[in-house]
Amino acid sequence: MSVRSIAIVGGHGQIALRLARLLASKLSVTSIVRSEAHFPDILATGASPVVLSLEDASAADFTRTFDEASADVVVFSAGSGGKGGEERTKKVDYEGAVKVFDAVEGMKHPARLLLVSSIDSRDRSKPAPAHYTEEDIESSQKQWEWIPTYMHYKLLADQNLWTRTTFPWTIVRPGLLLDTPGVGTADVGRTCVTKGIARDDVAHMLALLVERPDAAGLALDIVSGNELLESALDAAIKGRLTEVYYRDAVEHGKGLPEARMAVAGLVFLKDSGMAYVERMRQGNTNPELKAYKGVPHQFASFDGTVSLDDQVTD
Ligand SMILES: NC(=O)c1ccc[n+]([C@@H]2O[C@H](COP(=O)([O-])OP(=O)(O)OC[C@H]3O[C@@H](n4cnc5c(N)ncnc54)[C@H](OP(=O)(O)O)[C@@H]3O)[C@@H](O)[C@H]2O)c1
Repeated sequence: MSVRSIAIVGGHGQIALRLARLLASKLSVTSIVRSEAHFPDILATGASPVVLSLEDASAADFTRTFDEASADVVVFSAGSGGKGGEERTKKVDYEGAVKVFDAVEGMKHPARLLLVSSIDSRDRSKPAPAHYTEEDIESSQKQWEWIPTYMHYKLLADQNLWTRTTFPWTIVRPGLLLDTPGVGTADVGRTCVTKGIARDDVAHMLALLVERPDAAGLALDIVSGNELLESALDAAIKGRLTEVYYRDAVEHGKGLPEARMAVAGLVFLKDSGMAYVERMRQGNTNPELKAYKGVPHQFASFDGTVSLDDQVTD
């Protein structure tokens, strides 16, 4: 099914405005902003503005907005931009992102989520990815020393997302963002960490990803490069060119925490859930599986409507 509607969280951001401009003539775009003062800028892109703050609104507020927009895809491109210190970075870049993940999970038909994260968002207690050069390692060190709080909370948001299985997601990991005009070419997938990328090109990649459900489960870097964006992205998706730790977790079920999986029988993601359990078992994680026959999504929250004991199968 082709995508008809998207919602952008952080709708007044520089990438978000570019993305809305690219897509608003083709599909319905709802841009979620913090202030009505941003409405004229949003309307000028062709999108519809809605006010909700990540710091003040609840996950249920976001769910309602996503459902009202019938969003097929939710894009998270918000960020504190380092304004307001550690507390705000935590609230927006991490807790705000998790709030949006919860909100997507609560939708009647959970959307696909595209998260704008950062290049080199990784667990540095583990060895650097094998494709990193000495220059990458040096650059990585400098980046984490320069903006440790930002990197810390970006990573926590990514880690939270990559264990989620109730909706499809893709992480976009841009290098240093530039306001130079987009060139339509880039290096995508598993890249160096030393280069920047124009915001125009990141917006272009997000617009392409809106129509790429096969990018689910991937965390894709984007930095400047010479390959046409369309073909670079296509190759990264088909080649599963994802950063190593995500690949281990998502593709091989390795490095995941102990898990208990509950699968509802009347959910279209049921087969994906079972396949995920199988993949975890092939890795080094052996989740406890509970499959509940004939019940819909979020059945456990329907007080008294389902007797769980009656529904448990192997
Ligand atoms: N800067 C870099 O080099 C770099 C590199 C890699 C990744 N990134 C990430 O890329 C993403 C997008 O970048 P960008 O340049 O488009 O960022 P941006 O222009 O700073 O946009 C971020 C948006 O988030 C919104 N926001 C902040 N707090 C909010 C809240 N409480 N509730 C709702 N929205 C809130 C801001 O709203 P207001 O307009 O009201 O302030 C702003 O519109 C960010 O997540 C950033 O961390 C940045």
